[in-house]
Amino acid sequence: MPGIESYTRRLLRHFQPIVVSNRPPLSLKPADPYRGVPERLTKGQGGLVTAMTALAAGTSATWVAAARNDQDRELAQRGSTPGDVVEVTTDDGTTYHVAYVDIPREAYDPYYNVISNPLLWFIQHYLWDLSREPVVDSRIQHAWREGYERVNRLFAEKVVAVAARSDKPPLVMTQDYQLYCLPAMVRDLIPEAKLQHFVHIPWPTPQYWTILPKPIRDAVVHGILGNDIIGFQTRRDVRNFLMTCEENLGLAVDYRERTVFYHGRTVWVRNYPISIDPEMLAALAEQPSVKEEEASLAQWRPEQLILRIDRTDLSKNIVRGFLAYERLLEMHLELHEKVQFWAFLQESRQRIDDYRAYLGSVLGVAARINRRFSHSGWMPIRIEIDDNMYKAVAGYKNFDVLLVNPIYDGMNLVAKEGLLCNQRDGVLVLSENAGSHEELGEYALTVNPFDVDETAEALYLGLTMDQTQRHHRAELIRETVRSNDINRWIAVQLQDLRELIG
Ligand code: G6P
Repeated sequence: MPGIESYTRRLLRHFQPIVVSNRPPLSLKPADPYRGVPERLTKGQGGLVTAMTALAAGTSATWVAAARNDQDRELAQRGSTPGDVVEVTTDDGTTYHVAYVDIPREAYDPYYNVISNPLLWFIQHYLWDLSREPVVDSRIQHAWREGYERVNRLFAEKVVAVAARSDKPPLVMTQDYQLYCLPAMVRDLIPEAKLQHFVHIPWPTPQYWTILPKPIRDAVVHGILGNDIIGFQTRRDVRNFLMTCEENLGLAVDYRERTVFYHGRTVWVRNYPISIDPEMLAALAEQPSVKEEEASLAQWRPEQLILRIDRTDLSKNIVRGFLAYERLLEMHLELHEKVQFWAFLQESRQRIDDYRAYLGSVLGVAARINRRFSHSGWMPIRIEIDDNMYKAVAGYKNFDVLLVNPIYDGMNLVAKEGLLCNQRDGVLVLSENAGSHEELGEYALTVNPFDVDETAEALYLGLTMDQTQRHHRAELIRETVRSNDINRWIAVQLQDLRELIG
C-alpha cells in the first residue's frame, strides 16, 4: 500500500482537511515561578490524541477542539487574532494548528458531564445497571438541548469559520461520541463538504440504544448519517450500527456492501482498527527518562510482575481484575512474595459521581486485598495514580503478564503498545470484549471479563507459561501490530475517501 503522502497529496489538491474532537491534542501546564518550573506543552491524554496526531501531522490539518479550561482558553488567545487558529508545538516537537471552540460553562457541563459522559459513554460500553439507572427526565432532556446540541452547534460554526479560510471545500474528520450531531449540521451549512467520522468506542446493539428516548437516539443516528463515511473499530460495531439504522429507524441498509441509504445518498460504514506508531514508541522506549523510571522500577520489582495501565474508567473493569488476582493468591500460595500486581492508573472524569465512586471502590478493594495477604514486607498490589508516559513505558518494557480485561471497549491500545515495548516476552490476558481482541485474541489468553475465576486461571497460565510459548505468542502479536500500524490505519481511511471522492 502506498504511503500516506501519496493519498494526502491528491486529497489536498482538492480539499482542506479539518480534524474535530472534543479534547484538544495538547495541554498547557503553566509555569511555576516559585519552584522555577517553566511552562510545558504536553500531548493530551488517551488513544484518540495519539492516533489523530499522526493523521493531523500527515495531512497538515487544522484541529478544532474545545477550550475546556483556563489553560486552553489562554492558548486560544495566542493566535494572531484571538479566537483564530493557533500554532503550538508540544515538548516532543509536534506542531499543531488548533482552532479552539469557546464554550460557555453552562453548556459544557451538561454536554460533557450529563450527556457525553455518562449517558452516551455508559450506553456504548453497556455500563448501566438498568434496574436502577438511567432515570431519563427533564434534566436529561434539558442537558441534551442546552448542552449536547448547543455545543455541537458551536463546534459546527467553528468548523465553518475554519473552512472559510480556504477556497477549497473542507474534508472534515470528526472524532467520537461527543460530536454525533455535528456532521449533519456542517453538511447543511456547507453542502460541498466531505465528511468522515471515526467512532473510537463500541457501538452497542439496537436494543440497548432504546434506553434513550426516541427523539434523542434518532437524533444521534441522523446526526452521524450526515457523514459520507463512518468508521468504527471492529466488524461487530459496523454490524451493530447497520442493524441500528435498520431496526430503530427503518432505513434501508446493505450488509454486504456495508452501506446505509439516507436522503438520496449512500453512507459507507467501515471498520478501521486503530493502532500505534511502532517507530515513535521504540524511540520513546529508549529515552533517558524511561530508563530512569526503569531503574526505579528495578528497585521494587517482584520476581513476576502483573501490570495494568488504564484510566480509572468503569469500562476498564479494574475491580474485577483485582478480584481475579485475589482468587489467584487464594489458590496459589507458592506465588506469595514472588508476584506483584502493579495498577498504574490515570485519574479520569472526577466531576462525575459514578467515576469518583468507582475510583473509591478500586482503592478500597486493593486495600482490602493488601490487608488480607501482605506479610513480611510484601504487598500484593501496588497502586499508583499518575499520568506519566515514561513510567507507563517502563512498565510496558518490564511486565510478565499484562491484564487488559475491559467490560466492553473500543480498542485498548494498551494491549498493542504494551506487547510491542515488552522485553520479557510477556503474556497478554485479554477480554473477549476489547476491540483489540478481533486482531490479537488468537495469540492472547482470552477471558470473559465478568468471570473472575477464568481470569484468575488465565493470570496463572500467563505466569507459568514456558518460554517457547511466550515467545511465540508475543512474536505473533508484535508482527500483527507492526503490519497494522497507525500509518496503515490512516492510509486505509484516506484510500476510502479517495475512492469516494473519485
Ligand atoms: C477515550 C475516548 C476519547 C476521550 C478519551 C479521554 O479514548 O474515546 O474521546 O477523549 O477517552 O477521555 P476525556 O473525557 O478525558 O477526554
